[in-house]
This record gives sequence, C-alpha cells and structure tokens, in this order.
Amino acid sequence: MTNGIKDHIKALVKSMTLEEKALLCSGKNFWQMEGIERLEIPSIMVTDGPHGLRKQAGEADHLGLNQSVKATCFPPAVTSASSWDEAALYEMGQAIGEECVQEEVAVILGPGTNIKRSPLCGRNFEYFSEDPYLAGEMAAAWINGVQSQEIGTSLKHFAANNQEKARLVSNSVVDERALREIYLAPFEKAVKQAQPWTVMCSYNRINNVYSCENEWLLTEVLRKEWGFEGLVMTDWGAMNDRVKALKAGLELEMPGPDPHNDKKIADAVRNGELDEAVLDRAAERLLTMIRKACEVRKKEYDAAAHHKLARRIAAESAVLLKNDGMLPLKKDGSYAVIGAFAEAPRYQGAGSSKINPHQVDCVLDSLRENGIAFEYAPGYELEHDTINQALLEEAAACAKGRDGVIVFAGLPDSYESEGFDRTHLNMPESHTALIEAVAAVNPHITVVLLCGSVVLMPWRERVESILLACLGGEAAGSACADVLTGAVNPSGRLAETFPLSLEDTPCYEHFAGEGKDVEYRESIFVGYRYYDWAEKPVAYPFGYGLSYTTFSYDTMDLIWDEEAEKGEARITVTNTGKTAGGEVVQLYISKKQSAVMRAVIELKGFKKV
Ligand code: BGC
Repeated sequence: MTNGIKDHIKALVKSMTLEEKALLCSGKNFWQMEGIERLEIPSIMVTDGPHGLRKQAGEADHLGLNQSVKATCFPPAVTSASSWDEAALYEMGQAIGEECVQEEVAVILGPGTNIKRSPLCGRNFEYFSEDPYLAGEMAAAWINGVQSQEIGTSLKHFAANNQEKARLVSNSVVDERALREIYLAPFEKAVKQAQPWTVMCSYNRINNVYSCENEWLLTEVLRKEWGFEGLVMTDWGAMNDRVKALKAGLELEMPGPDPHNDKKIADAVRNGELDEAVLDRAAERLLTMIRKACEVRKKEYDAAAHHKLARRIAAESAVLLKNDGMLPLKKDGSYAVIGAFAEAPRYQGAGSSKINPHQVDCVLDSLRENGIAFEYAPGYELEHDTINQALLEEAAACAKGRDGVIVFAGLPDSYESEGFDRTHLNMPESHTALIEAVAAVNPHITVVLLCGSVVLMPWRERVESILLACLGGEAAGSACADVLTGAVNPSGRLAETFPLSLEDTPCYEHFAGEGKDVEYRESIFVGYRYYDWAEKPVAYPFGYGLSYTTFSYDTMDLIWDEEAEKGEARITVTNTGKTAGGEVVQLYISKKQSAVMRAVIELKGFKKV
C-alpha cells in the first residue's frame, strides 16, 4: 500500500465520528461488513468456503442448512493435502478467487489449518494434516492463489481448536512448546508466506483466555512476532468481551449487527477505559481491507475449466494404500461395482463449508465411458447404517465369478460433520459387512474409500487393493475412474497416519476433554511424532502412498551454510517402471543427541516431482 493511500485512510478515520468507527467493528448482517453512506464507504461481503464458494444470496446460516449460489466444489482439505502439491493448491485458490470475483465476494473464509490432533475431530475433513509443516505449506499456497485475484482470505480457526465437542466454550490447556511447535506453526507459516488479509479467531479458550480477547495470541505472536498486517475477525458468534477483544487486537465481530457491543466500544472511549487510538487503528485496518476489496472488477469465470481442475486435483490426491495387482483395471475384464457410494458419491463434508456444486460426476458413468464392463449393485442403503440383508445378498451374487470387484465404502455424512466429533473410527456395519460378504465369494477386491477422516480397516488383508479417494469434490466420480483405469497414476500420500486402533491414537485418554477443559497432555507428540516415539505399529504411516510405477533415489547431497543455518538438499529420483507417474520426495530431520525430548523425525521439506 502506498503512503498516499495510508494517509488517505488516516484522514478518513479522522473525519469519522466515534459512533461511525465503532459501527465498523461489527458486521452489517450475516455475511456483510458495515459501510458508511455519508463517507461513501461501501459494505463488502465475506463468505464461507474454503473448498469452493458458499455465497448465500437468500436465507443465511452458518451450518450448511440453506442453499448457496452454484460454485465449483473442489476437493476439501483432507483430500487436497494428500496431493502434497503446492502448485495444485495455488491453482485451486486462484480458481476460487475467480469465482469470488464473479460473485462479488471480497473475502473467502478459509483455509482452516488446525492440526488433526485426534482422528475423531468431526471437522478433520476441513483441515490439512497432523503435521504443521505440511498444513502450513498447503494453507500458504491456497491463500497465495486466492489473493492473486485480489480477493482476501481468512486463515482459521486461530488457534488450538482441534475438536468440535463444546467448541464454543472449551478451554484448550496446552503447553507453550506444543503450541509453538505444533498448533501455531501452520498459522505462522501461512502468515509469513502468504499474508492473508484476515485471520479468524476460534471459539475456544487457550489456557483460560478466549482466543477473541487473547492479547498474547493476537498481538504479541500474530502481529509482533510474525508480522501479520491484516485484520482479525471473530468466528461466527465467538465474541466474549467486546472492549477487551479490541484491546487484544481483534477488529471485526461477525456476524452483525451488534449495536449493543458498538455502543460498549464508544462508551469505553468516552469514559476513558479504551484509548481512542486503539479504535482508530482498528478502523484503519478495516478501511484498508475495504479499500483493497473495492479495487476488484467483476469478471465471469469458466466453470468448465474449474471442473476440470477439480477433477485433476482429486485424481492426483488419491492415495493408493494397497495394490496386489488388481489396479489399474483391465479393459477386457468383467467387473462388479458394488456400493451405493458409487452411484451417489460422498464428495464433501457437512456444515458451514458445504458447497452447492455445478455438477456431480458419477463414477459409474465415467467407468462406462472408459470402456470398463461391469454390473452394479448398491449393497447398502445410503440413509441407514444397518445391514440390509437383501441388498447384501444381491451384491454377493453380483460379485461372484467376476474378474474383479470394486467396492465403494467409507463414511456417510451422519458419521462426521462440523458440530460433533466421532466416538469411534469404524465404518458403518453395512459397509464392512458388504466387504466381508463380497470377500467370501471373490478374493479379487478393490475397496475405494470415500471418507473425510481416518477409518479402521479390519478387512484389509482380505482385499487386493485399497484406494483412498477421501472426499473428492464435485468431480470425485470421474477422478476415481481416472485412477482406477490408470489414466492417472496415483501420486497422493497420506497427510495423516492411519492407526490400527482408536486406543493407539496419541490423545486417546484425553480427547475430547472432561467438562470444559481439554488437556493436551501428549504435548508435541501428535500424529507420527507420537507413533514413532512410542514405537507403535500403524496400519498406514504418514507420508505413505503407492504408485503404478516404481522410483529409485540416489544419495542425497546436503549443502549446508553453517553461518546462515540454512541448507539445501538435492537428490535425483528416477522412475524405474514403465508408467509415467508422480513421486513426493519427503525430507525429514532428526537430532541424534538432544538435551530436550523431541520427535524422532520431523518433516522439514517436500517436493512433488
Ligand atoms: C465456523 C466457521 C465459519 C463460520 C461462518 C462457524 O460456525 O466455525 O468456520 O466460517 O461459522 O459460517
């Protein structure tokens, strides 16, 4: 921002009354910020996302209940993080930014970069990873993509918001080292690498202080240490003490209007409780963002191109967990496709991030278009998780004698959503019984998993291949077909560990807290940091994923600059198979002798090639 603009904004603030400045500090309605007609300050719109645009033109809500305008539904964070491809995240951000431009939305509320502390968190599908480095890189790439279109983002939910249970009132009791190394780290990376226009504070308290009024968090760490230049807003309804929050560094309360709190601000200035300079600074930050938003000119986006991009990202994010040779499918094979998810895929999670897609691809159509011959049977009901014996028997009969069976299973909406946590990691019994019933008649099975978080796979030894498609967005169906048929070679890698049991997970004993307190007793030992340290075997480790080809690595060269304490690692990776494919090169560090307890290894770099 030029000095001229800065001076103009300062002058504008000077010309405002106390009431006008206070008015700006809460929203105009559910999705709009206040404007001031007298001064020609327009009201701008902020809207949910983040894996697409959720602009509500009619009835507003923050639970994903009412319709929103049509938009491209890209793969949610659980899926896109498995791509380990920053360029893909940037492109997704760019496309979403273009949709914001067309729909005249100034700021999209995302990304969510909270750490997956437990696989039980109901909102894990909206978050990237159990690892702060990967989560931070993905968030930064997405923000940079969106903001390349002059559209703002809101990095959320800041901070230590790692569960849905009691989310409005819970108190995360976390030691500072775990906060710094694990929970704040992805936010720090995203702020430093991408400078989001806004940060959204979380509902919860951290060590007894609500995030919205946490001066240490919002001013000391976020602004002074990390150099954040934008504005801080509340999550929807996360305001506690308005004046305290303003002093702590929180400018915008959402949603609005909140005349009661606006008045509290003005009164606090009048009675000397609040320095007017603090309010002026908040008004400057708000006006700076409004001004930036006003520079955007409406332009139409290409929905077909965005759909194609959504398909590409979903395909490159799929993780091949097991393949004893059944994949890719063969054109001359005779297959059975089983599972109602094949007909009606689960492609995104429920809650405030729910997008109203332009179209939803069906894997059955895409397989047919690719010349794969198959019979289909639903095997279970979408609406119920109990076994339907007739559907089960029909599916087994359909599977018998085929060259191979592809079973679509996973988690329905009712199992994971914003607003509640899971209590176990099982798939519905109707899905597991289906895999068992099919395995009893045909050993050649591929299971395609559609789910937003970790599931247990007690059946995994009885199937030949497992493809984790996660939640693929609106092109989930065609993307799945691309990978199953080999048109795309899977190159996704797990962004979170798949444990062998719930009891094995790091915070099993303390998730999701008794009463309001949630004790983060495992400290820094989150995700693979815990499994490695405790030497616990897992089903599939962090960073894992197979390919239809093979790769070899030569020895690594490390060029280390002692003075700068910086290094560069170089390695040549060779595709030693017959199929083109992508590999994710992952760099972990460890310290052989350490005076403090630390993780056995930590991710510190990666590159998709
Ligand atoms: C969610 C946020 C969301 C907001 C607005 C809240 O309940 O936690 O992620 O952006 O609602 O819908």
